[in-house]
Amino acid sequence: MTTELITGIAELTTNAGSGPGDTDGNRITDAALVIEDGRIAWLGSASDAPDADVRTDVGGRAVLPGWVDTHTHLVFAGDRSAEFETRMAGGRYAAGGIATTVAATRAASEEQLVAGAKRLRAEALAQGTTFLEAKTGYALDVEGEARSARAAAEVADVVTFLGAHLVPAGVDRRDYLDLVTGPMLDAVVPFASYIDAFCEVGAFDVEESREVLLAGRAAGLGVRVHGNQLGESGGVRLAVELGAASVDHCNHLSDADVDLLAGSSTVATLLPACDLSTREPFPPARALVDAGAAIALATNCNPGTSYTTSLAYCVATAVLQMRLTIAEAVWAATRGAAVAVGREHGVDAVGSLRVGGRADLQVLDAPSVSHLAYRPGVPLTVGVWQRGERVASGASAVR
Ligand code: NIG
Repeated sequence: MTTELITGIAELTTNAGSGPGDTDGNRITDAALVIEDGRIAWLGSASDAPDADVRTDVGGRAVLPGWVDTHTHLVFAGDRSAEFETRMAGGRYAAGGIATTVAATRAASEEQLVAGAKRLRAEALAQGTTFLEAKTGYALDVEGEARSARAAAEVADVVTFLGAHLVPAGVDRRDYLDLVTGPMLDAVVPFASYIDAFCEVGAFDVEESREVLLAGRAAGLGVRVHGNQLGESGGVRLAVELGAASVDHCNHLSDADVDLLAGSSTVATLLPACDLSTREPFPPARALVDAGAAIALATNCNPGTSYTTSLAYCVATAVLQMRLTIAEAVWAATRGAAVAVGREHGVDAVGSLRVGGRADLQVLDAPSVSHLAYRPGVPLTVGVWQRGERVASGASAVR
């Protein structure tokens, strides 16, 4: 088996420590690492580095884990730039916009859906995202949701069933809930690991969301919730009650919601690119972290509210606008995100760099991760390794 020694690492962020504040446990300066058989075989000070078959010199740049994007809606067709333009001219986001994408997605072939999702997956990978979740939720009928789940499984590491995204036009609410908790769930389960519900005004209320999520759990799926995006929807309380892996959005939180999350194992997944694109107030990220709640950052890539695959952009926004430190934001988009998809520990752990763990990493064209927020909007990722294979390179040379 060929071994690869990566040298010239000015700053190695491992995020293998006990938390984002554990600088000594999370960072090594003047570092090197060895990859063997898709895994990290060694990491430490450059002066102690062993020899290897192949050497790659990253020339004084920063290396960190690949991003872990735990909230995307990559399987869709159509374009909603006109809706976006209206919003930027003062309109407000409402859940009903999803219907536009549903019509386009139903009209597309499976090949078109897979091709679109692959294009976005490749875009994300080139920007450092080595692990990604994708949801269904833009077909909302049995065959269409199964088709979306198959397409999602082709591009994503984790698939989430989001039949409870919206009640489609012309369908009775009760009939639709019976479909989502019955035949649609059965058709999607073979491809999915999680079930999700959009618990929001204009989508599904708490009782309806609970019914859907419990049906998913009974079918063996983990639970995620879209909650408290457009108001205090009760989604956070429901997520904690059900022991959900994650509650996503969290823009409108009471002090009690913050305390509830802090006392739970549910991760608050924050979606800053979506908040900018919908002009919702940012979630109280600082209060969540200070209270001891676990947080993650994700792109929420979708055509309606957040059409970006860039976690670096989310990290920069979380630092510049949501008052996270650089270390907290980078942790939230890597190790924190791994917690939100149950992949923090074990042989398939992602989001951190440790001996024996997956060699999913990225090189920045910068000496430290602080440049992610210091140089916002600049595509700094110039090399990406996924399971030990070099899969993408950016503009600058990494030899
Ligand atoms: O996470 N909130 C629900 N789903 C997406 C938006 C979907 C859409 O508007 O198309 C979201 O923001």
